Amino acid sequence: MDVYEAVTSRRAVRGFTGQPVPKDVLERVLSAAAWSPSGSNLQPWHIYVLTGTPLVHLKMLAVQRVGAGDPWDEREFEMYPPELKSPYRERRAAFAKQRYGALGIAREDLEARQRAAISNWDCFGAPAALFCYIDRDMGLPQWADLGMYLQTVMLLLRAEGLHSCPQMAWSQTRKSVAEIVSPPDGRILFCGMSIGYQDPAVDYARTERAPLEETVTFIQR
Ligand SMILES: Cc1cc2nc3c(=O)[nH]c(=O)nc-3n(C[C@H](O)[C@H](O)[C@H](O)COP(=O)(O)O)c2cc1C
Repeated sequence: MDVYEAVTSRRAVRGFTGQPVPKDVLERVLSAAAWSPSGSNLQPWHIYVLTGTPLVHLKMLAVQRVGAGDPWDEREFEMYPPELKSPYRERRAAFAKQRYGALGIAREDLEARQRAAISNWDCFGAPAALFCYIDRDMGLPQWADLGMYLQTVMLLLRAEGLHSCPQMAWSQTRKSVAEIVSPPDGRILFCGMSIGYQDPAVDYARTERAPLEETVTFIQR
């Protein structure tokens, strides 16, 4: 698979089969992803990979508490600015419409949206997941390094015939994750990522992208 195909075939998959992901495949992907760039080569990512019983246990804990309506763990970072301005507000609304529309859920049906969102904590059925932490004292550029690293992981997963879904949702239940992975003090959970083989029975609507001229400016003579 060439890089263009890996990039364009990657999408946030929200329906996985239970087929296990072999450990040597995960090791190969994560070993290669270690070549991701980072400012001054800090490599500020700390990754925990869960499969088998520990993941089943975490899913159970998280699904139970979210299902019971427990409050979210207090935030360690804002997922989005409180007031999203244009054009981000419209892009977010278009995404929500598409995501919940594809599931036949009306915009105002908050309960149904909540029910659909709960599958985040079941990792959408995936048999493997990783959790990405960063040291609390790292700055914005190191958070950007995490993004580059995680995208590299997702593209390498494509090369192995696997799919993924990055999930900030896990930061809302970070204490449940910490119960299972026991991170050292001073680390912030940025996100989880579900990993597995795509369930072909689950329908997907492809998300759209802004036209090139909205996000890219060529300066030329
Ligand atoms: C940092 C990050 C966090 C995300 N968190 C979630 C999440 O918690 N749950 C979810 O279903 N999708 C999540 N997504 C997936 C995005 O919704 C998705 O990437 C976006 O809508 C573009 O669609 P695509 O990835 O299918 O191209 C996240 C993506 C990123 C990059």
